[in-house]
Amino acid sequence: MAGPVDLENLPGVGPATAEKLKENGYDSYQGIAVASPGELSNTADVGESTAHDIIQAAREAADIGGFETGSQVLQRRERIGKLEWLIPEIDEMLGGGVETQSITEVYGEFGSGKSQITHQLSVNVQLPPEQGGLGGSTIFIDTEDTFRPERIEEMLFGLDDDVLQAAMDDREIEGTPDDEAAREELLQSFLDKIHVAKAFNSNHQILLAEKAQEIARDHEEDEYPVRLLCVDSLTAHFRAEYVGRGELAPRQQKLNKHLHDLDRVGNLYNAAVVVTNQVQSNPDAFFGDPTKPIGGNILGHKSTFRMYLRKSKGNKRIVKLVDAPNLPDGEAVMRVTGEGLKPE
Ligand code: GTP
Ligand code: MG
Repeated sequence: MAGPVDLENLPGVGPATAEKLKENGYDSYQGIAVASPGELSNTADVGESTAHDIIQAAREAADIGGFETGSQVLQRRERIGKLEWLIPEIDEMLGGGVETQSITEVYGEFGSGKSQITHQLSVNVQLPPEQGGLGGSTIFIDTEDTFRPERIEEMLFGLDDDVLQAAMDDREIEGTPDDEAAREELLQSFLDKIHVAKAFNSNHQILLAEKAQEIARDHEEDEYPVRLLCVDSLTAHFRAEYVGRGELAPRQQKLNKHLHDLDRVGNLYNAAVVVTNQVQSNPDAFFGDPTKPIGGNILGHKSTFRMYLRKSKGNKRIVKLVDAPNLPDGEAVMRVTGEGLKPE
């Protein structure tokens, strides 16, 4: 995919506008082509009609945005990867795993396992495809200071020995999973492929999503391109900062823009986007159906896969597929163990 280009080739874009666009992460035709006129107009300080013209020209230059033939759609969809949880019941329910080029929302109450899932997928994505991974790296936007490298270590070495051996071979690490030096090297290699950033508030979080695009682009030709983008939690900062009825619309606008940025990384770089969202579980409380996120569909149409987590006995968790294109709803069980997420 195209790297940095000369944006001044676009109509109405002079050096100053090009600079503003680049500063804000719009540094490729593809990126601009999928922006909205309002978004671009704000970012680049140009009128909406100029923004519209810029987007049209970028679409032509990038050759996207128009009609596609069925075979082109098929070609794009053929690139979709499936990232396995390595829990057969869940992977089957998901039609193979978490999809790239889509946003997956994982929601549930505190302690239901949302952060554990983002950690486990950050490990799994790095495995070779034959082992259920996507041979890729992760970008992890951490808004609640929950990312723990120690947990990555436990989950990595919680994998079966044959999977670890395959991961070692894939990375040309000599030795076996019993070999201390080889284990250390493997762990280092896994940790190095998780790009973690803490978001201090919602604006910072939005900036990091824009930055994620740059990281994905910079690593596009790497052996392990970005194949997973996690945001844990998507909504916590927004909830804390935009309180009260009057704040709902501005909050929604900001969240929409943010989701749009995340979606763009997923689509342009063939990455799975996984976001978490804490909800209240008490069905008697004000929120009605416990399987619906607070405040209605906060994420609206943007999260294309939606999974609801419910605590069960002990370390068991019920994972419910609530919404997915072309897949029936379903339910599966997993356990949160010291060695990571495991089948029932
Ligand atoms: P909030 O972020 O508070 O909304 O919760 P969450 O849904 O992200 O829950 P999280 O994934 O952090 O934790 C789910 C459960 O996993 C916890 O209740 C613990 O029982 C378990 N857990 C978390 N960390 C560990 C760990 O290091 N080892 C083990 N064995 N279990 C853990
Ligand atoms: Mg959490």
